[in-house]
Amino acid sequence: MIQADLIIEGAAELVTLRGNSSRPRRGEEMRELGLIRQGSLAARRGKIVWVGPTGELLNSVRPIAFSKLIDAYGKTVMPGFVDPHTHLVFAGNRENEFAMRIQGKTYQEIAAAGGGINATVAATRKASKQELKFLARKSLDRMLALGTTTAEAKSGYGLETETELKMLEVIRELNEEGPTTVIPTFMGAHEIPPEFRQTPEAYVDFVITRMIPEVAERKLARFCDVFCEAGIFSVEQSERILRAAKSVGLEPRVHADELSDLGGAAMAARIKARTADHLLYANDDGIHQMAEAGVIAVLLPGTAYFLHMQRYARARDMIAAGVPVALATDFNPGSCMTESMPLILNMACTQMRMLPAEAITAATINAAWAIGEEDSAGSLEVGKQADILVLDVPSHEHLCYHFGVNLVETVIKNGKVVVEGGRRIR
Ligand code: NIG
Ligand code: FE
Repeated sequence: MIQADLIIEGAAELVTLRGNSSRPRRGEEMRELGLIRQGSLAARRGKIVWVGPTGELLNSVRPIAFSKLIDAYGKTVMPGFVDPHTHLVFAGNRENEFAMRIQGKTYQEIAAAGGGINATVAATRKASKQELKFLARKSLDRMLALGTTTAEAKSGYGLETETELKMLEVIRELNEEGPTTVIPTFMGAHEIPPEFRQTPEAYVDFVITRMIPEVAERKLARFCDVFCEAGIFSVEQSERILRAAKSVGLEPRVHADELSDLGGAAMAARIKARTADHLLYANDDGIHQMAEAGVIAVLLPGTAYFLHMQRYARARDMIAAGVPVALATDFNPGSCMTESMPLILNMACTQMRMLPAEAITAATINAAWAIGEEDSAGSLEVGKQADILVLDVPSHEHLCYHFGVNLVETVIKNGKVVVEGGRRIR
């Protein structure tokens, strides 16, 4: 008999995502959810110890004293969402830009006129560590209530050593305090700061020679990301920054082909980046090279929606080409102000024609791969962290189809109930 301190019993659908653990899911594999109808699950000391049909629960698992029993009859149980691309830490807001876009201005025009990333940089430089942490904590709690138990978070609103480090320290403290796992990415090359407007090459050198070594030395980040875009960092500059990062152990990721086709996807493949993100304008060659190199496409339909882009990344073509696809919010104050992974799932289905099963794979196991958390998160398998959602829906399809409301009833992180009846428990 397996002993358990947490048992979730009788789910109408238990979405395990079990399967191939040697690489992210691609092609047809993205439709395989490892579904158990009438399924149950048990955990002990924060880890999953048993998963199977409810009919076998009684003969397999024994609850220890004071164990928690959750009745999931008629409900869907799945792994906590992994949100693999967020700009979680920032000060100030940009609702003025939201209104400007409604009146016809583009994201690039607003940035050129003094808004954009540099507006948030100004506010973030002024904010104290405590303020930044307070604001980010609020967003993390919102994410948790919407089912996100692991999130990546980028720096990139400092663009000077002191503020970049301040952001990364906030991310580290948030992760240490829990319950959400927060994975840090250094993104000093998010924009050219005002001090270097006339000398962008000098900023690239500064990022490479000063910032990256310090971030690596202090072990403040796992990944390095760059905004590779016309008028921001060229493919050549981005590649130089990411190779420097890689040489000191920061794994490369890249904001690629978001607003124009610059060849960012092909560059990501060339340097064997872990992910290339956005990819609205990625060309066929770039997509095929990503498939060859095994680069994960992190798609962010919320951004395309929020910026009125009138187009979305070509998820169907990517899946057909064998690119592993993940989904994320891109949560940030300028281009996508939402903490909601369920909303992103709905958009992925309606706007990019991903099937509900593909979207769920993309938001769990493939998202875990996108941030190097594949051994601990993203699926309900024995040995993994007990990061689990109980959803008030009869099927996984219902989750993608029923939008604009929170269907997450219970959130379990490392075996502990942290949200119950939609409410955060401390
Ligand atoms: O992923 N593309 C660059 N970075 C963000 C936008 C950040 C901002 O506007 O503040 C993005 O869309
Ligand atoms: Fe982003």
